[in-house]
Amino acid sequence: MPRLPAALCAALLALAAPAAAQEAAAPAEAAAPAGLELWPRSTPNPPLPSDEARIDGLLSRMSLSAKVGQILMGEIQAVTPEDLRRYRLGALLNGGGSWPGLNKAATPADWLALADRYYEASMDAAGEGPAIPVLWGTDAVHGHNNVRGATLFPHNIALGAANNPELVRQIGRATAREVVATGIDWTFAPTLAVPQDDRWGRTYEGFSESPDIVARLGEAAVLGLQGAPGEDFLGAGRVLATAKHFIGDGGTANGKDQGDNLADEAELARLHGAGYRSTLRAGVQTVMASFNSWQGRKLHGHHALLTVALKQRMGFDGMVLGDWNGHEQLKVCSVDDCPAALLAGVDMFMAPHDWKALHQSTLRHVKAGRIPMERLDDAVRRVLRVKLRAGLLDAKRPSERPLAGQSGLIGHPEHRALARRAVRESLVLLKNEGGVLPLSPRQRVLVVGQAADRIAVQAGGWSVTWQGDQTDNADFPGATSIWRGIQQAVTAGGGSAEFHGGGAAPLPPADVAILVFGEPPYAEFEGDRGDLDFEAQGGAWYLRAARALHRRGIPVPVPGGDGHLEWHLRAAHTLHERGVPVVSVFLSGRPLHIGEELAHSDALVAAWLPGSEGGGVADLLFAGGDGKPRYDFKGRLPFSWPQDATQPPQNPQTSPYTPRFPLGYGLSYTPPATGP
Ligand code: GLC
Repeated sequence: MPRLPAALCAALLALAAPAAAQEAAAPAEAAAPAGLELWPRSTPNPPLPSDEARIDGLLSRMSLSAKVGQILMGEIQAVTPEDLRRYRLGALLNGGGSWPGLNKAATPADWLALADRYYEASMDAAGEGPAIPVLWGTDAVHGHNNVRGATLFPHNIALGAANNPELVRQIGRATAREVVATGIDWTFAPTLAVPQDDRWGRTYEGFSESPDIVARLGEAAVLGLQGAPGEDFLGAGRVLATAKHFIGDGGTANGKDQGDNLADEAELARLHGAGYRSTLRAGVQTVMASFNSWQGRKLHGHHALLTVALKQRMGFDGMVLGDWNGHEQLKVCSVDDCPAALLAGVDMFMAPHDWKALHQSTLRHVKAGRIPMERLDDAVRRVLRVKLRAGLLDAKRPSERPLAGQSGLIGHPEHRALARRAVRESLVLLKNEGGVLPLSPRQRVLVVGQAADRIAVQAGGWSVTWQGDQTDNADFPGATSIWRGIQQAVTAGGGSAEFHGGGAAPLPPADVAILVFGEPPYAEFEGDRGDLDFEAQGGAWYLRAARALHRRGIPVPVPGGDGHLEWHLRAAHTLHERGVPVVSVFLSGRPLHIGEELAHSDALVAAWLPGSEGGGVADLLFAGGDGKPRYDFKGRLPFSWPQDATQPPQNPQTSPYTPRFPLGYGLSYTPPATGP
C-alpha cells in the first residue's frame, strides 16, 4: 500500500465525514483512514462461532428495553438493586472517591456484599427475557486504590522509570487478586497515554513519553490483570482490563486535559497508538474512549477512529466504553441524549447519574430509526461477548467465586513486598555529589518536611479519594511513610532518626539531613498547570491547604521565609552552613523545574509517586552493615527533565532537544561497565 503523505492522510480522514455529520453519523460506509498500515490488525483471535451462537440466542430473547439497558453503565451511588431489576443495566462503576454506602472506611466485606446485591438483582429477570449478570468496573490504577488498606503500587510514571515488564505483570496480577477479593470484575487500567507535555495533570498515569516503553509495559499490565490468551485468560483471580483513553490523550496542545490533539494521523497512530497495538495483541477486552479531540473532533463522536480504525482495521472485537459523561461533550449531544456516540462506535455509555434519562432517549431513537437496530445489536453483542469471555455468564454470585471474600489479600504482605520492590526499582538518582549516598545508618539522621510523613503525598491521586486529598495516614492502614521507613532502617542500623516538619522551629543537630518535598496529590484536570515551576505550584498548594485549615479554625503553621516552599531552601542553607550533607527526595507526578532545590542538595532522588510502601526509599538511601549499598538505583528517567519552568516540551523527537536530564538518565552506585 503506497504510503500517502501524512497531511494527505489527515485530509482524507477529515473528508471522511464533516464535523456535524461525523458526530451524528449513521455508520454508513465511512471512508477508511487512508493510512491503512497505520492501524494494523492487532487482535489475536476472531470471535468463536460457539460464543457467537450463544450470543445470538441471548439477543433474540432480549426486549428492546433490555438491550438499551445493557449498553448503559451507572454509578453505584445512583443505581439501586431495584433499578437493575427494572432497567437491566449492563454495568456499574464506583468513581474515584465513591465507596459502598459512601463510607471511605468500607471494608472488603462491605464491597463484596454490595457486589452480591447487585448481581442478584441483575439475575432476577422476572421472566422478562434472559438474566444477564451486571459487570462492576473500578479505577484500580495503582492497586485497588479505592479500598481502605489496599496495596498502593507506584503510579505508572514510576513503573516507567523501572521499565521492567515482568514487574508490571506481577503488579497486574496482584492488583487483580485484590480486586476480585471484593467481588469486582473489571478495572479501568492501564492508561496507555504517551504524555508529551508534562503540564498535563495526568502525566503520572502514563508510563513514559516513549511509545516503546508504553507499548511494552501496557502489554505487561494487561497480561497481569487478565492472564494470557491461551493460558489462564480471565481465569480465577483475573479481571477485565481497559486500554485507555483511546486515542491521543497524552498529546493535547499545551498538555490541556481533555484538549485537542493536533498530531497528524501518522503520529497519532505511531506514537499515541503504540499501547493499543500491544494490548490488543495481549487480548485486552475493553477500550475506553478519550475525552480529548483529534484535530478538533471529539473522540466520543469519532466514527473513523472508534469504528473504522480501531474495530475494522485493528480488529478490536471487545467493547468500547465511553468515559465519564464523555458523550455530553459532543456538539450534537446532551448528557441524557446522545445517539451520535453510539453511532460513532461507543458500545457502552458511562452515564453515572443520568443513565435513566439516557435509557429513555436512546429507546426513542431506536424506535424512530435514528439508531439502526443493527448498531444497537452490535453494541449489545460486544458487551455480551466480553461478559462471556470473562466467564461472567456462567459464574456464581461474586461471593462464591474464587478468592472472593479473602480479605487477607487486601494489602497482603507479598503484595506489599512487591510494591516495595517496585519503589526500589523506580527511584532515579539525579545527583550524588561526592558519593554522599549510600548513607551509613549508624549516625544521627534528620528527616525534614511534612511530605516525609504524608502517605497521601507519596501516593498521589486516585488514592482512597479521586484527588488523593482529604485523607490522613489513618486512611492507609498497613502503609509505610518515607519517614517511618528511614526511622526503621536507621534504628536497625544502630543510629538515631529525628523528624522535623520543615516549619520555623530550629533544626536539631544531625550528621546528615534528608529533605523530603513534593507536589500535593491531584488527578486529571485538577493537576493541569501553566508551566513546570515546582515553586509556584507548591506555593499554591500551601495556600490552598492553609485556607482549608483556616476554615476549620486550625492555626496555620506559617513557616519563616516568604513562602511555604522556601523552607526547603532555608533548611538546606542552614544545614550547609553547619557542614551537614543534604539528601533531597522529590515526590512528583512529573518532572518539574527544581533548579534551586537541586543546587542546594548534595544528592537528589526523583521518587515519583511511590504509593503505600515508602520503605523502599530507605532501602536505597542506606547502606548495609558492611557499608555497601543494599540495593542499587535501577530507575532511569521515563520522561525528559526540563531545563527550566517554561522550556518548550522536551521529548527525544523534539528539536532542539536540550533537557536538563534526558530520557533514560539516571545514576547508580555501581559505575557503568566500561570497555570490552
Ligand atoms: C474519569 C477518567 C477515567 C476514569 C473514569 C471513571 O473521568 O477520565 O480515566 O476511568 O472517569 O472514574
